[in-house]
Amino acid sequence: MSLTPFKNEPILELRRAPIRAQLKGALEAFDDEPVVQVPVWVGEDTRQGGALQSLDPGDPERLVAQSAVATQADVDHALDLAGRSEWRHVPAAQRAEVLIRAAAWLRARRLEVAALEVRETAKPWREADADVCEAIDFLEYYARAAIALAEHPAFDAELLQPPGERNELRWNPRGVVAVISPWNFPVAIPLGMVSAGLATGNAVVLKPAEQAPACAFMLVRALRESGLPASALALLPGEGPVGAALVGDPRVHTIAFTGSGPVGLEIVRRAVEQAPGQKHLKRVVAEMGGKNCVIVDSDADLDDVVPALVKSAFNYAGQKCSAAARVLAHEAIHDALVERLAGAIEVLHVGQASDPEIDVPPVIELEAQERVARYAATAEASGRIAARAAEVPDRGYFATPTLATDLPADSPVLQEEIFGPLLAVERVKTIEEACDRVDASPYGLTGGLFSRSPRTVDYVADRTPVGNLYVNREITGAMVGRQPFGGNRLSGTGTKAGGPAYLLQFVEPTVITENT
Ligand code: SER
Repeated sequence: MSLTPFKNEPILELRRAPIRAQLKGALEAFDDEPVVQVPVWVGEDTRQGGALQSLDPGDPERLVAQSAVATQADVDHALDLAGRSEWRHVPAAQRAEVLIRAAAWLRARRLEVAALEVRETAKPWREADADVCEAIDFLEYYARAAIALAEHPAFDAELLQPPGERNELRWNPRGVVAVISPWNFPVAIPLGMVSAGLATGNAVVLKPAEQAPACAFMLVRALRESGLPASALALLPGEGPVGAALVGDPRVHTIAFTGSGPVGLEIVRRAVEQAPGQKHLKRVVAEMGGKNCVIVDSDADLDDVVPALVKSAFNYAGQKCSAAARVLAHEAIHDALVERLAGAIEVLHVGQASDPEIDVPPVIELEAQERVARYAATAEASGRIAARAAEVPDRGYFATPTLATDLPADSPVLQEEIFGPLLAVERVKTIEEACDRVDASPYGLTGGLFSRSPRTVDYVADRTPVGNLYVNREITGAMVGRQPFGGNRLSGTGTKAGGPAYLLQFVEPTVITENT
């Protein structure tokens, strides 16, 4: 198969009237369909039975999907089948073909998939479309990367080949991959982990977030309907116990997880325990939380800073691990920045994800709405609320976009991941002090800097502990192949999704030495 060089899938131009009409049509078509029934899907067997309910966060009376819940028997069946799958013997180029066909499947249904995201996870149109594009990008990127790995194993050229001896490095699949995925990028993130596992010849079992099983069903359909053998991918919807059963099982070799810090740490802890019958070390590929800081220097252009911060903190209601949570503003511009941010936040348009004009959608569920309100109350009690969005719908799980200042350094609002639309600004005297504060955090996912001084940019780049640092722009929206994405410290195991080294997490090297 000859593939063109990788290119990012272009996003839709939502300002165009014909595109908006298409989106509206896709949403109406989705709403006319019966509630999505998500099965447990293992091999050729599907089992329906809607114990889990997905509600529209903007209108919780609307049932979007009903999902079966995997039992221990389903987990056993899925892992047995995955362990016996012949997928590992399929040549890399043929595996890649399946991924490329799945990308075409998604491309052909991009509006339908985005409409599902709008309803199931309240992703605004722009973000839902970007999520589908990122999912397509992962398929296209890892397909190419897997062929490259099989045909030109990295580092192979560096092996010495003395006369009479041939040394070869092969990357073999590790075995069974358990993917445990979040709801906030409900197609792209699970599909990224699943496709990396599959591209390298592993069989995969997917336990998606209980808030977004229908989106996961869609990506499994994309792969299965593109020729993926039934044994290579199972769908095991459910809640925490399904993930826990996978993590503890000796038949799992690799756990690919994206989600909260506490769950990630628990997975790492349990993965090192040797279960009876286990002959291998489990590997954990974990992408966890963040408490992402943006440093604003005294010479920054506030015309650039304010919209970039608003986007980074409030797009998708702050529910991205990459979102901005803390702004460390130089004292020379602190007050002006707070005033201008306050003005921008007060007029944010908070509304339904299906409305292409909105800035901020609802949060995912009642528990999230209550959590954000609790942190906002803490900020009000111990600091100052500089702004709140003026109008917030009262039906649906809406959280009020909020700007907090004057908080004590040890405030939970500054230290803990809130995962909602609450941004805090802190005053710093110098860039060194800002870097000290960033360095004090146990998180290291994304970070930002606004400065016009090349020396400051160099200094901050040298000192930053984060996995992805963005200079003079927003800090969310990493693109596959352009900004390989992943955190350091307690934000993850440091693997970069959408980058050249990601697939190495899913393979095991074998060196073959032959006397010739
Ligand atoms: N990759 C996403 C972003 O960069 C977060 O998971 O925003």
